[in-house]
Amino acid sequence: MTMTTTTPNVYIEDLAQNGTAYLGQDVTLHGWLYNKRSSGKLHFLQLRDGTGTIQCVLFKGDVPPEMFEAGNRVTQESSVRVRGTVKEDKRSTLGFEIGVTDFEILHESVDYPITPKEHGVAFLMDHRHLWLRSSRQHAITRIRAEIIRAIRTFFDERGFTLVDAPIFTPNACEGTTNLFETDYFDDKAYLTQSGQLYMEAAAAAFGKAYCFGPTFRAEKSKTRRHLTEFWMVEPEVAFLDLAGDMDLAEDFVAFIVRAVLENRRAELTLLERDVSKLEAVQKPFPRITYDEATKILKQEGHAFEYGDDFGAEDETIISNHFDRPVLIHRYPSAIKAFYMKPDPENPELSLNVDMIAPEGYGEIIGGGQREDDLNVLLKKIKEHELPETAFGWYLDLRRYGSFPHSGFGLGVERTVAWICGIHHVRETIPFPRLMERLTP
Ligand code: 4AD
Ligand code: MG
Repeated sequence: MTMTTTTPNVYIEDLAQNGTAYLGQDVTLHGWLYNKRSSGKLHFLQLRDGTGTIQCVLFKGDVPPEMFEAGNRVTQESSVRVRGTVKEDKRSTLGFEIGVTDFEILHESVDYPITPKEHGVAFLMDHRHLWLRSSRQHAITRIRAEIIRAIRTFFDERGFTLVDAPIFTPNACEGTTNLFETDYFDDKAYLTQSGQLYMEAAAAAFGKAYCFGPTFRAEKSKTRRHLTEFWMVEPEVAFLDLAGDMDLAEDFVAFIVRAVLENRRAELTLLERDVSKLEAVQKPFPRITYDEATKILKQEGHAFEYGDDFGAEDETIISNHFDRPVLIHRYPSAIKAFYMKPDPENPELSLNVDMIAPEGYGEIIGGGQREDDLNVLLKKIKEHELPETAFGWYLDLRRYGSFPHSGFGLGVERTVAWICGIHHVRETIPFPRLMERLTP
């Protein structure tokens, strides 16, 4: 059976936004059967087309018998073509439904594995390529796309130049313990952990630069916050100090949250996200020192060794003191990366900053002011037992017009998890990579 398409093809999203303009008109929709309910002379077909779902009502009296029979036969996730009249439907969130006049199964889906019943996470993860079609996963992925749009818009509108950092790198940026090593002809290469070092070169070339792409860490910890492949956006700004870096991070995160609240309300509602928690994310964010953060832990009677880095539990306790993200600055230099600039007022501390998300979602940003003195940096590279030769080019930035500069990296998946209110980062990226998961 072929259908001549004389009526306009529309997306469900067009109807959601502009449905009144289509009222009473005939339209054609292409999509998949999400769900179905039948009662005697009627089939209520939930059609999803990737942009939304709409109820299509197939009435026995309106169509030839074989078409009504196709409505009886059609299975979950079969691909279909529907033609019909746009009608008002006050009960649906969309506001419209389709009175079907023509219905065709394009491909019958047999035994779709993800049924409306409950499935375990391992099963769903094995079927991630199909799970993406489910309404919650669809909503998360659309919010992720909105967050990424906001990230780009924020920097593009503020005069930053996008400078892509390489994926294959000859040296480590964030310590050598979680590097992915790969053969590179007769040599070795590492998958990038961070584009930062390259952005420092870019800051000297463009003043304000950012990179945005996948980064890799061989994380052996199985936590709800760690992926082995995650996306990071990394701005770097010349002649910016730590205080300015914190201002930028604060503006940036407030901007992202606002964009999602403005443009992805329906998805947040579907996820049952408490949006009042997101609406509280207004500037200024609290700024506390590492020392002050350790006092909060002490006050709470929580065992913590001064000088250690904060673990997930510590971060949660600290973040629970605030209703918006908190900036923690000036950690002990001993636990921070080689490139961090020491605080001139107390060289035991570094001019770094982490941003901890509220509600226990942990660190979403790490950054700070960079060491800009050639000799100090050389000493740090030796202390960290890093190969000096691999950093020759990086040291050049301190040889030819060295300059104060700062930047940070924001992890996209943790940000998506927080904004969506999703427990585990594995649902915040279309195809997650974890220690024990490389497929699909
Ligand atoms: O704090 P990190 O390690 O900072 C850097 O890589 C700096 N070089 C960035 C810079 O200054 N340009 O990582 C930054 C952020 C973290 O705050 C976290 O959000 C995210 O990247 N992140 C991870 N996200 C998911 N899985 C992992 N294994 C992650 N490791 C870090
Ligand atoms: Mg960090």
